[in-house]
Amino acid sequence: MKKGLNNSAADEIIVPRSVAVIMDGNGRWAKKAGFERIRGHERGIDAVRTTVTECARLGVEALVLYAFSEENWARPKREINMLFKLLKRFLLDERGTLMDNNVRLLHSGRRARLAPDVLELLDETIALTASNDGMQLSLAISYGGRQELVDATQKLAKRVQAGELAPEAIDEQSIHDALYQPSLPDPDVLIRTAGEMRISNFLLWQVSYSEIYVHDICWPDFGKDQLHEAFRDYGRRERKFGKVL
Ligand code: IPE
Ligand code: IPE
Ligand code: MG
Repeated sequence: MKKGLNNSAADEIIVPRSVAVIMDGNGRWAKKAGFERIRGHERGIDAVRTTVTECARLGVEALVLYAFSEENWARPKREINMLFKLLKRFLLDERGTLMDNNVRLLHSGRRARLAPDVLELLDETIALTASNDGMQLSLAISYGGRQELVDATQKLAKRVQAGELAPEAIDEQSIHDALYQPSLPDPDVLIRTAGEMRISNFLLWQVSYSEIYVHDICWPDFGKDQLHEAFRDYGRRERKFGKVL
């Protein structure tokens, strides 16, 4: 847990070191407003900008945003195309936001199914922000928690096969080091919007001791106030890590 910041809403905000967000409910937001689902995704980008800037301002060290899961590939082709169009726009348009806020961009997920133009913009933005030493922002795109563990296991198996690693030397640290982004600390808090009480294959290894915070609001409506509310709630949690306090 990090420094507390005083906020006008009286209660102190405890800023977590590491935050992960399942940004859910774009479709429901759009449906409720009488729009097509894609309008919800479009509005979701504004919420991404707000959360990224506010987390960076508050001093969060690492933020992982679940933007597209491995399972989301099963969505209609049209929705997938629109989502990646928006992602590409985000990667171009928000470069200024990332630079102004000293944010370093990373990617968590598999590259294999990502189109060359998506990879190019992603890699360019990652390279552009590589020397920013403020918050690390990882976009989980084509990401699955089980797939990440499969990929990590394959990496370790190759090292064993090459004679670099003894099977009995495999420990929690070596598994951690084989994950997509080993520089990211485990999330202190996992936020999910739109009320669903499930993990949906997100960061299965990393959330073992994360505090889970679910808000009913849909992602496009998740703003600064809701983020502060989540951090206040987090600050009231008693983290025991199996011990007797
Ligand atoms: C989250 O919103 C965005 C992605 C999964 C890409 P959804 O599109 O899942 O919205 P709902 O859950 O259908 O409301
Ligand atoms: C989780 O949301 C994935 C992302 C937010 C990118 P989903 O909408 O895909 O999750 P389920 O299907 O409700 O579990
Ligand atoms: Mg959803």
